[in-house]
Amino acid sequence: MTFAEVEGARLHILQRGGGPVALFIHGFPFDATMWVEQLDALSGTRRCIAPDLRGFGRSSPVTGEPLSMETHAADLAAVLDLVSEERADIVGLSMGGYVALAFAELYPDRVRSLALVDTRAGPDDEQGRLGRDATAARVVQEGRSWMAATMDETLLGPDASLQARARLRTMIEGCPYETIVGALGGMRDRPDRTPVLATVTVPAAVIVGEHDTVTPPGAATLMADALQDATVHVVPGAGHLSPVERPVEVAAALRTLLERA
Ligand code: MLT
Repeated sequence: MTFAEVEGARLHILQRGGGPVALFIHGFPFDATMWVEQLDALSGTRRCIAPDLRGFGRSSPVTGEPLSMETHAADLAAVLDLVSEERADIVGLSMGGYVALAFAELYPDRVRSLALVDTRAGPDDEQGRLGRDATAARVVQEGRSWMAATMDETLLGPDASLQARARLRTMIEGCPYETIVGALGGMRDRPDRTPVLATVTVPAAVIVGEHDTVTPPGAATLMADALQDATVHVVPGAGHLSPVERPVEVAAALRTLLERA
């Protein structure tokens, strides 16, 4: 399967391996390619499926209306239906983690294990919400190149390789402005999913880059404490994009989780 037809969208899918399904959910404003090393590394034990969320990557375009986390979660449930799979290991980075928690709330019985990578459960505060609108307005006025330059500085750890930096810029520069605006609106409006953490009974892992300043290790540890059965993995040397910056270490942390699932 290269494309999945879901309600109102055509999702492009990266897929590797066989066995029980693991779903990989990318962050903002990235695409499924951010997971390629983990898909390869885990393909021996899982059918690894990484969709480009609607509007992103090679999936069908959107208009700039808010792209809610619940819509993405429903798309993922539809992908599972298409592959006739009831449950999956759910892995989400940052915005993908917001989607993963929406999925865990809406479809608790469809989660075999949960990996929250460089993410948070809480909502945006007032300043954060205003910042989303300001970013969207600037992208409409100036395009997205400035985002690539800014995010290179703020998201990656100090030791990120040139290749990791190039991958980050490539993904951002390939993201349509309507998707950026829509995703910013969806993230701005997302609810507090901190209460969902305590309802997750399946094995979980919280993975976070040592130098992640967006969703720092301290906050990740608190999130793990709120889950019923979670381990914390701090990825040495990584910033907010740990699967790209330290692919081997992140794959190892995910393998440990999948062995418990
Ligand atoms: C991401 O990496 O997905 C973003 O940092 C999420 C956000 O802007 O909240």
